Amino acid sequence: MRLLQLAFAVALASGLAALIIYITGVTYLNDLSDEDLEALSTLQSGFQKCVASNGLGLKAINGKDYCEVTIQFPADTIPKWKDPKTGEVEGLSYSFNLCEAVATWEQVRNSTTILTREFIDALPHGWEEYAWQRINKGVLLNRCKNKTLCVEKLSLVLPETPPYVPRQFSRCAVIGNSGDLLKTKFGNEIDEYDVVVRENGAPIQNYTDFVGKKSTFRLLNRGSAKALDKVSELYETGKEVLLVKTTIHDIMNKMIREIPILNPVYLMLGASFGSAAKGTGLKALEFALSICDTVDMYGFTVDPGYKEWTRYFSESRKGHTPLHGRAYYQMMECLGLIKIHSPMRADPKRIVKWLPSRSTVVAARKASEKLLRRVGAGSDNPLAACSITKKQIKRKPESMSGLRKAAVEHQKFIKGVTLYPLEHNPGHGQLCTVP
Ligand SMILES: *[C@@H]1O[C@H](CO)[C@@H](O)[C@H](O)[C@H]1NC(C)=O
Ligand SMILES: *[C@@H]1O[C@H](CO)[C@@H](O)[C@H](O)[C@H]1NC(C)=O
Ligand SMILES: *[C@@H]1O[C@H](CO)[C@@H](O)[C@H](O)[C@H]1NC(C)=O
Repeated sequence: MRLLQLAFAVALASGLAALIIYITGVTYLNDLSDEDLEALSTLQSGFQKCVASNGLGLKAINGKDYCEVTIQFPADTIPKWKDPKTGEVEGLSYSFNLCEAVATWEQVRNSTTILTREFIDALPHGWEEYAWQRINKGVLLNRCKNKTLCVEKLSLVLPETPPYVPRQFSRCAVIGNSGDLLKTKFGNEIDEYDVVVRENGAPIQNYTDFVGKKSTFRLLNRGSAKALDKVSELYETGKEVLLVKTTIHDIMNKMIREIPILNPVYLMLGASFGSAAKGTGLKALEFALSICDTVDMYGFTVDPGYKEWTRYFSESRKGHTPLHGRAYYQMMECLGLIKIHSPMRADPKRIVKWLPSRSTVVAARKASEKLLRRVGAGSDNPLAACSITKKQIKRKPESMSGLRKAAVEHQKFIKGVTLYPLEHNPGHGQLCTVP
């Protein structure tokens, strides 16, 4: 009888354990080696020190597992932004998934973030299921049943093959539109970057002391893209490359043809991140990370104590989640993705302390991929993440000549493959085109 009771207790306990494992997902940890777990805890502990020493009062604390981290603002921070739906004032602490971030952003660094014809052609049912979504009122095109018509609509913004490769540029700066740019004269410093990425209708003229004169790329949301004629005048030399985040619009096509707009115009092809990562600013960082060695950011309202929410060229506006975003950018800095420049972090020689080493990032990335069950998890082979593989359209020979050494070396490493992010793809598998 005793024995039976014991057996029953054991059975119950193991059933419970199984249930707990099932609910919490702890079982995934079984896939990880000791090195994997160590990589993740090294990343976590370094991350907390990094936020403590660079975050101007922000504090990162361990969440419930190896991945979760909570970033807290100082208790005396006055939250200003209200959720328009619930009317609630934003909180002072935000949770992030470091594993998700490190795996996704490391993938972005090796991917192409510009939409090409090669991509749509290689995507199974790319024309019927994807292309029309990048055309304003594309639904009316009946899922591109008439492909000629869709090709026509997209042709002005659709290069055959990627116009840029990863690491094509060395030092890049992404300039946001925050009013705090007027507090520091960053102009000369900004002009020294190889590439400068700007956003929407941000003017340069009359603000050069603060925002610099140089401009290479400009990322446009829907509203700015419709005013393409105005936007293309913002940089007098007219050679800015314009990247549209949303869809091509008949108005845009007409302007490109008739005005004409001489700037190259492309559509951006982006990976999907969580809700903290939707705005134009983050897309601009994503683009920069996909073509540059290093990315520095200016004008993003990131200092915890900064209370206004304005653009440097206009009055205040609503609709952002400043604290959530600020915490996210601090996370990006402490993962070694970007460097923040702000009124309170204005010294160009500022060193970001406690950055993870390259080997920590690589090890943590692999461990995270396993934990998240990503396609090709934990592999050294960059092609492991390809869930769709197609033969490449021949590249123009001149597109590879004159590339800097780092870009050529990277091309060798990835065997000349182009990796495209696939939206809504489980496990973040990519579309790869191979030579
Ligand atoms: C990206 O490419 C670099 C080499 O340039 C490589 O070290 C790194 O592991 C790659 N990352 C991913 C996620 O494949
Ligand atoms: C498809 O669109 C093209 C370009 O607008 C047009 O010339 C052609 O007649 C259309 N074809 C059909 C079958 O509707
Ligand atoms: C720059 O300032 C001048 C003079 O105030 C003004 O006419 C011009 O429109 C301004 N340019 C921009 C881009 O704001």
